[in-house]
Parts: sequence; structure tokens; C-alpha cells
Amino acid sequence: MRAKIVAVVAIVALAAAAVVVATAQTTANGLPSYTNGYQKWPKLNRKPYTKCGPPCAHAGVKNVYASKRKVGTKYPNGAVIVKSIAQRGDKPGLPSQVAVMRKASGRWRFVEYSLSGSRYSVLAQGQLCVSCHMRVKANDYVFTTP
Ligand code: HEC
Repeated sequence: MRAKIVAVVAIVALAAAAVVVATAQTTANGLPSYTNGYQKWPKLNRKPYTKCGPPCAHAGVKNVYASKRKVGTKYPNGAVIVKSIAQRGDKPGLPSQVAVMRKASGRWRFVEYSLSGSRYSVLAQGQLCVSCHMRVKANDYVFTTP
């Protein structure tokens, strides 16, 4: 009985993974393709952030890039905002963490990736992120202002 439950859980997990792969195309390094070339997007911060918070989410050297500009008070659908979080010793262009907000159907989706070797995988996402970004709801949930 127990083995059966484990098998079912494994199948469900596999199916869920397949759906994720199908809907968000990943690049060779594991980040979704809509983040491609983010290092060349306009930066929202003037200087890299080196201190954490308050409220503190990540320690490291951080930069924030936006694929689209705000229109009025809000970012348009399709906008992607990437925060790169680099630690000492990271290879250039491969920050150890990458936090992403992407707007679709008027709502932000939050996902954070961490690097292991030369590939990123999901570290955290969803409500955890929103609970803190709520504080800047008036700025469309975005802390960094250009
Ligand atoms: C405890 C509060 C907190 C939590 C939890 C949090 N963040 Fe943030 N986030 C911040 C702060 C503060 C900034 C501004 C830059 C900085 O200080 O690092 C920020 C910046 C960002 C940015 C750049 C855009 C902006 O708002 O300035 C992205 C993208 C981002 N976070 C994604 C995420 C994701 C994805 C998660 C969940 C895995 C998450 N954040 C969880 C506080 C938080």
C-alpha cells in the first residue's frame, strides 16, 4: 500500500514538472527564456545594492533590471523584472541567485532561482515573496524605483 502511494506521488510530481517545462521554456542554464539577455535591460538601480533591507531578502551585490518601463503607475503585461544577487566568488554573468517577477494577466508571478554548478533551479516562489512585496503595493509591488 505504502509503495503504491509513493509511486502515485512520484507520477504526479513528474506530471507537474512536465507542465512547468511545457509552459515556461527554459534556456540552457535553467532560467526561463523570458529572462534572456536581462543583463542588457535598463537597470532600475543606480548603484548595485550591497546592503540588505530593511526588509532584508538577500545578502549580496544586487542589481535590478526591467524589460519594460512603467506605464503610468503600473508595469504592463509581459514586463519582467530580474534581480541578480551575486556573492563573492561568483563567475561573471552567473550570479548565484536570480529573483524574477513577471507580469501576466495583470498579476505578478514571483520565482527565485539559485545556481548549482552552471544551472539554475527554483529556490522559492509565490506567496512567500508576495507577503513581503505587499509593502510596496502602491508602487506596483516593486521596491526599486529608477
Ligand atoms: C522580506 C522581504 C522580501 C521577500 C520575502 C522577498 N523580497 Fe524581493 N525584494 C525585497 C526588497 C527589499 C527588494 C529591493 C532590493 C533589495 O533590497 O534587495 C526586493 C527586490 C526584488 C526584485 C527586484 C524588483 C523590486 O521589487 O525592487 C525582485 C524581482 C524580487 N525582489 C523578487 C522576489 C522573489 C521572487 C521573492 C520570493 C522568492 C522575493 N522577492 C521575496 C524584499 C523581499
